[in-house]
Amino acid sequence: MAQDQPSYKELAQQLRQPNGALGTQVAEHMELWNAPLIDLSFEALFCKASERLLEIGFGNGSHIPRWRKQVADLHYSGIDYSATMVELARANNRSALEAGELQLQEGNLMELPFQEASFDRIVTINTVYFWPDTLAGLKELYRVLQPGGRLVIGLRPKFAVKDLPTVQHGFQLFEAEELETKLMEAGFENTGYFLNEEVVRKVDEKEHLMFGLAVAAHRPA
Ligand SMILES: C[S@@+](CC[C@H](N)C(=O)[O-])C[C@H]1O[C@@H](n2cnc3c(N)ncnc32)[C@H](O)[C@@H]1O
Repeated sequence: MAQDQPSYKELAQQLRQPNGALGTQVAEHMELWNAPLIDLSFEALFCKASERLLEIGFGNGSHIPRWRKQVADLHYSGIDYSATMVELARANNRSALEAGELQLQEGNLMELPFQEASFDRIVTINTVYFWPDTLAGLKELYRVLQPGGRLVIGLRPKFAVKDLPTVQHGFQLFEAEELETKLMEAGFENTGYFLNEEVVRKVDEKEHLMFGLAVAAHRPA
């Protein structure tokens, strides 16, 4: 990398919790690179009209208008622990926020500021690598999900990204089956997944075929 480029360690930190001007740039890249996975994860939720959806880790939130167009009267709430992302997502969804049609707030997945069974659907995309305790995170999602509700975790599977330079800095990677096992340990049932082949990305002159994975599970009714 050129000298004025951030190191892969810095980029990994920005992916974990984007901050400031570099975090803003990284978020723009994420929304472009991750658009197919973001939309796969939303489709895997099977959201119906008027349902309550929680997203954790919405980045700059530029996908939210796209999702809201697909489901009538969607009650979207978003949480992200990056103040920079909350500010950007608020700017990208200003009119809907002012109309009281959605909520965006700062908060941590590990300790959600919601009561038990507050949501019909929950989605979180490209965050699971960073949770300090996977099982505790899943139990927290279970708590705020309605009995019978559906959770989708969007991620890059281990087999596809394990050689990328950024993930060498503190990412916890999963294959679909490993996450399904954890989900069942946390009390979820009826797990399954969608795997989508995307495009080849060149990183440091090396080609990587990208895949998107959306792992779904239910809180028992
Ligand atoms: C790698 S980015 C992914 C952004 C977007 N979901 C995507 O796939 O392009 C991770 C996002 O999740 C947020 N995040 C990570 N861990 C979190 C946690 N424990 N609680 C809340 N937000 C979290 C980060 O601040 C960041 O905005």
